[in-house]
Amino acid sequence: MLVWDDEYKIGQPDMDAQHLILFALLNQLTVNIDSDRAGDCLHDVIGALGDYIDYHFAHEEALMKAWGYPGLDDHAALHMQFAAEVRRLQSMANGADAHKVAIRVRAFVLDWLLGHILGTDAQYAQFITARSTAA
Ligand SMILES: [Fe+2]
Repeated sequence: MLVWDDEYKIGQPDMDAQHLILFALLNQLTVNIDSDRAGDCLHDVIGALGDYIDYHFAHEEALMKAWGYPGLDDHAALHMQFAAEVRRLQSMANGADAHKVAIRVRAFVLDWLLGHILGTDAQYAQFITARSTAA
């Protein structure tokens, strides 16, 4: 199980809360993998994770836009690539290979999320903090 650590916080409370929910959804995926659920169930759980990723990215991009963050377009392009890959993997998570695909999704999302939160997300958060303290 994944344990959220305060070092993953970027200092934007709504975004931190949504990142925490993404961790919880990854843990839910783990439960479904470990309990040997059937392929259609894994497909649905990955779909729920994909839906929340879309929701979260939309909020994050709206926040960056509201603050006039200059890196928005590049950041949004990374989101789009990532979300497309999750959807591609979801479409493979039916049938006999569903467990293997689900394990791949879990590893992919976790690696990407940690790298993204600590790198790319931290940059816009620093920008917003600097702007809000200068105001
Ligand atoms: Fe992001």
